[in-house]
Amino acid sequence: MADRILVVDDELSMREFLSILLRREGYLVDVAASGEQALVAAQREWPAVVITDLNMPGMSGMELLREIKARAAQEARDVDVIMVTAFGSTESAVEAMRAGAADYVMKPFNNAELLLLVRRALERQGLELENTRLKTEVRGQFHFGNLVGSSKAMAEVYDLIRRVKDTRINCLIEGESGSGKEVVARAIHYSGVRRDQPFVAINCGAIPENLVESELFGHVKGAFTGALRDKQGLMKAAHGGTLFLDEVVSLPLPAQVTLLRALQERRFTPVGAVREVEVDVRLVAASNVHLEDAVADGSFREDLYYRLNVVRLVLPPLRERADDIPELVRHFLRRFSEEYGKELTSVSPQAMDLLRRYHYPGNVRELQNLVERAVALAAGPQLGVEDLPARLQGGSPTLRVADPAVPADFPPEGVNLDAILAAEEKRWLLKALDAADGSKTNAARLLQMTFRSFRYRLAKYGMDDG
Ligand SMILES: Nc1ncnc2c1ncn2[C@@H]1O[C@H](COP(=O)(O)OP(=O)(O)OP(=O)(O)O)[C@@H](O)[C@H]1O
Ligand SMILES: [Mg+2]
Repeated sequence: MADRILVVDDELSMREFLSILLRREGYLVDVAASGEQALVAAQREWPAVVITDLNMPGMSGMELLREIKARAAQEARDVDVIMVTAFGSTESAVEAMRAGAADYVMKPFNNAELLLLVRRALERQGLELENTRLKTEVRGQFHFGNLVGSSKAMAEVYDLIRRVKDTRINCLIEGESGSGKEVVARAIHYSGVRRDQPFVAINCGAIPENLVESELFGHVKGAFTGALRDKQGLMKAAHGGTLFLDEVVSLPLPAQVTLLRALQERRFTPVGAVREVEVDVRLVAASNVHLEDAVADGSFREDLYYRLNVVRLVLPPLRERADDIPELVRHFLRRFSEEYGKELTSVSPQAMDLLRRYHYPGNVRELQNLVERAVALAAGPQLGVEDLPARLQGGSPTLRVADPAVPADFPPEGVNLDAILAAEEKRWLLKALDAADGSKTNAARLLQMTFRSFRYRLAKYGMDDG
């Protein structure tokens, strides 16, 4: 459903102008010519955002602000009020903010600025809603272990976990480094019927090649130099439970053969032993490369691949499920505030904006580290932009727009501002398209504009290929 915005101004031309501007962005708009009318309108259809003039005959914008905030509190509803003040009246702007206005704009205002404030307010409300929803129902229903996130991608992951947890089906988890493969592996184990049996993890990439087989399958005393006593091996240690094979692509080919046989026959022979050992192990393998590519280039056995890949869970990189970012931020904020004994309870909209737009090459692990660092640094109750590392601010248009690119002196013939702005606009459009790998939807988001508005601008410069 489209978001509803209530425009309040005693001037007809202003009401008309704002409704056109906002409707063009796809919002539902109601108008009121006075504070009194606004309250009636709000009674009929509760608005998500109110944009009100400060100086009106009768009830002033400030009185309307107080009244509507009081009603919102009474009825447990969310509303953001943006105050429009006359140029130069900073004092009333400050007073409005104190009285609970979300923000203010000075007349004459810049359309883009006003739209940005509206979008921010709606985004914040979305977050709060998400947060309450998270606290109430999603918790019990969707949470597996420490997994956070309710994006579509994560919902699919939960669904798969639910379906495999009580079976002994082998699973393959693929995803970039830091995307949560190990948490998912643990969730499968600890939410299923094997939860009271061991969960044994082995990182195939971290063990010297010549020791992999003895680590996995054990050895008997004297099987090779250095084998001073019998060793059980992790496969046996995981008996009845789950063996987690991390970085499975690093498993040397001979070990792959032994593993395949162990999986097929549920028994194996420890290095140097004569007697076979029987095991019942569910295998969960993880890889941060596409394992099928390793099969294609011959470094991974195809038959083993099919054994492991009975169920495949793919964890998309965090940048492709940005919807999870606010939830993850709040989750880590709670966790680290507790750990560091701080009272951090919120994130400023600007900081959340930066966090949402960053591309996280290190995925959730990187986000987690960012929040931990910010919590350690933060002085107040709110996590702000200043608590985030500079690399997040690098690509932010909002912060760069203010850069003084204007020359100190004008040439005698003057400059063509329209041409300069057009060239600049084109540069940003291209840059955003590039950063979004050609996705117009994502490029529009990077520029904080609607898809439609983005496409319109592309067309204006003949850059739209349809
Ligand atoms: N969905 C999630 N919810 C909460 N925490 C998560 C989530 N995904 C990852 N994490 C956290 O991020 C960190 C990295 O996750 P994990 O170790 O599972 O990544 P990985 O995919 O195994 O990475 P690597 O390939 O580098 O081993 C962990 O501290 C984990 O707790
Ligand atoms: Mg891992």
